[in-house]
Amino acid sequence: MSENIFYTKAAKYWANVPATINGVLGGYEHISGIDIKGSKAFLNDILSLKNAPGTELALDCGAGIGRIAQYLLIPVFDKVDLVEQEKRFLSVAKRRIGELHERLGSLYNIGLQHFTPKKKYDVIWCQWVLGHLNDIDLIAFLVRCKKALNTNGVIVVKENITASEEIEYDDEDSSVARPYKLMQLIFKEANLELIKESVQDGFPDDIYKVYLFALVPNDLDKKAFVLAS
Ligand SMILES: C[S@@+](CC[C@H](N)C(=O)[O-])C[C@H]1O[C@@H](n2cnc3c(N)ncnc32)[C@H](O)[C@@H]1O
Repeated sequence: MSENIFYTKAAKYWANVPATINGVLGGYEHISGIDIKGSKAFLNDILSLKNAPGTELALDCGAGIGRIAQYLLIPVFDKVDLVEQEKRFLSVAKRRIGELHERLGSLYNIGLQHFTPKKKYDVIWCQWVLGHLNDIDLIAFLVRCKKALNTNGVIVVKENITASEEIEYDDEDSSVARPYKLMQLIFKEANLELIKESVQDGFPDDIYKVYLFALVPNDLDKKAFVLAS
């Protein structure tokens, strides 16, 4: 399949999905609570690290209708920006969160493969969206995110991971689930160091295992920074 079709097919799929939690979770609204609970525990652990990130600004990538922003990030960060390619979802996010919270920041209506963060973020949260990028675009996107991290900033990746060693393609929403080893290779290629990982528990047996990864710029990057400064 050409890369163009991979992306346009996904965009078409999401354009026809209801702008609801059930819609963005593919009919699995009932797992949203347990998902957020697992994410909260993971985020709390990160915020308790010796070199913990700040809590000023977070970015929710592939934000959908702002489920993660609303229930996980806004209670913790002063401001939360969203990036999401389906415009309808951002309008609903604004309606759902905007009136309630002054903490909703900038909303970027663009695909992650084209997006370059322009601010410095304490936490960049990417969940159930990176399977919509091909490997090359994903590495490039992670590199751009890495450059947009504040001091002690962390990128969190929470994604489906295959039980097989193979990439599995979903023809319905045009996304891939990647095997664990490939994710590690992608992080390595992006010069990111894994500082914490965990598996979401309490999810039904009929869905993929979902891993949480916390990533920071690796030593190679830190050395380059010292040499350049
Ligand atoms: C499974 S939903 C997850 C939404 C949200 N992360 C959550 O967990 O509630 C996937 C989201 O990714 C968005 N998306 C798909 N491809 C994208 C791309 N290339 N760039 C940005 N967002 C994309 C979809 O529009 C949809 O909102």
